[in-house]
Amino acid sequence: MDASPARVLAEEAPQGAPSSRGAGDSTLTFTEIVHGLDGQHAVSPGHNVQVLLRWGDPITQKAPAFDPQSQTAAKQNIQFGYDNDFIAFKPLPYGSNSSERGLLCINHESARDHLMFPSFTTHKRDNGKDLVDVEMAAVGHTIVEVHQTRGVWNVDLKSKYNRRFTASTEIDIAGPVAGHARMCTRDDPKGRTALGTIANCAGGETPWGTVLTAEENIHFFFGGDASGTPEAANHKLMGIVAESYYSWGNHYPRFDVVAEPHEPNRFGWMVEIDPYNPRSRPAKRTAMGRFKHEGAGVVVNPDGRLVCYMGDDEINQFVYKFVSRRTVNTRDRTRNWGLLDDGTLYAARFNDDHTVDWLPLVWGAGPLTATNGFASQADVLIETRRAATVMGATPMDRPEDIEFNKVTNSVFIAITKNAPRREPNINAANPRERNRHGHIIELFPADAGDHAAATQRWQILLLAGNPFDPQVKAQYHPGVSTGGWLSNPDNFAIDPKGRLWIATDGANDYGFNDGLWATDVVGAGRALTRYFFRTPVGGEMTGPTFTPDGTTLFVSVQHPGDLERSGSSFVNPITRWPDFKDGIPPRPSVLAIRAENGKPIG
Ligand code: FEO
Ligand code: CA
Ligand code: CA
Repeated sequence: MDASPARVLAEEAPQGAPSSRGAGDSTLTFTEIVHGLDGQHAVSPGHNVQVLLRWGDPITQKAPAFDPQSQTAAKQNIQFGYDNDFIAFKPLPYGSNSSERGLLCINHESARDHLMFPSFTTHKRDNGKDLVDVEMAAVGHTIVEVHQTRGVWNVDLKSKYNRRFTASTEIDIAGPVAGHARMCTRDDPKGRTALGTIANCAGGETPWGTVLTAEENIHFFFGGDASGTPEAANHKLMGIVAESYYSWGNHYPRFDVVAEPHEPNRFGWMVEIDPYNPRSRPAKRTAMGRFKHEGAGVVVNPDGRLVCYMGDDEINQFVYKFVSRRTVNTRDRTRNWGLLDDGTLYAARFNDDHTVDWLPLVWGAGPLTATNGFASQADVLIETRRAATVMGATPMDRPEDIEFNKVTNSVFIAITKNAPRREPNINAANPRERNRHGHIIELFPADAGDHAAATQRWQILLLAGNPFDPQVKAQYHPGVSTGGWLSNPDNFAIDPKGRLWIATDGANDYGFNDGLWATDVVGAGRALTRYFFRTPVGGEMTGPTFTPDGTTLFVSVQHPGDLERSGSSFVNPITRWPDFKDGIPPRPSVLAIRAENGKPIG
């Protein structure tokens, strides 16, 4: 199904003189779309867009059809969650390269109650336990089996693999922090079993078939005045404030930091899920640090160890990498469960000479001692942000997704924006004052392709924003068109040819919808970004991923119709995408995009 005619609010008039200098340098041959602000999506001509999974769609045969007027937690537990983000396509059977049958593993980052519930009023008051229960069931993660026949994808509701993970699912706490006193609560006096995973933003995939889901903006779910308690500074550094955004703490005391001061310490981790084993429990991998995890770029190092590059998405927070101690077992996938519990976490110092030094966050080394309030490695990991700060890591302009590109053997880091950045804190890796549009950094391995090295090199791929406005100081290939420029890079996918696909979050601030752009990263077309797909207004583009053969591109449209300044609400949303039915609010959805001729996208 392609897009029905869009209600066009504005298609952007060309700004400045479009340059044609070198516009043909790109290896990408799709026809570009233009910037626009409308209630529909748009895709490059010659492509089909299938709405595959919407918020509330059944994921098992027992699940009832979606009815937004009578949503309950029991229904939501077996329906697709809200605000889908990261997507992984895991071929079936395990070890195959299938592009026709697989598992989709999908994050649900948040619940937008003002667009979900007819009864919702305002975050200033408690909207009741029933509503909280639906929210708790709508976040987390979903696994579903999908099949493609003649270019059309279907969800297999009978599959044994289909399941939901919510804010109530039992999850093991694994690694060096498991069982530590700061992880113990009334419900879990041993500190080894968390209830739920929340704020699941982007993620990553391991070479043994598991999925990493990143717990990011956990602070929205907690409230209570912790001042004067031992955890006060810790909670403040994670953004937890007395007046919580959600009212979960009113009904579940564990989300009230006064009643349960350790509960936030059990969130903000990287969580590993095995989608191929439907009975497996996920694990929070505490060796990988606690911060606002955006995602993970995973590399098998030439020596066999696993390297995970990770970003902490907040202004002036850091880029990290985790290096496993053991090597990946390539013969028995199950032997790698726990590999991520043992290794070294590093924070990045980006130097102006285009080197990056990796600072080990190891208790007892340098300033990471009792003098600075770190009594053990558990303290270093629970307060990773503070440990990186005292070690001298470089505060960045909001690191988002990081992806490894096996064609170039380099790593791409999305840096989304940092409007408050000023002199004297401008540096080569964060080169713009009031960085409103973000940039992309490319990071290279050391000699012999070593991603575990203590020092690596980096360079800027592009500085985002409008290249036709000299004040923006954008930097791309000179052939970028008036639709080809982007703002606020957030998530990445790499296609089978090694080209970078860039999803954005924030373009609505500049008068056009977010979307997906693609660029070569080597050769004449490097940094020549081209516009492929546009979300509906208020939506954010997330989760892009390709099938192994590159013929299907899955993407998430998160929070469509959520444009704050428009007053968009359940009763009067700015768009009813993708159903466009009276009474049905906009629904976050996963889309499957294919070329009409069935060839690889791009
Ligand atoms: Fe959830 Fe940083 O985006
Ligand atoms: Ca993101
Ligand atoms: Ca985002």
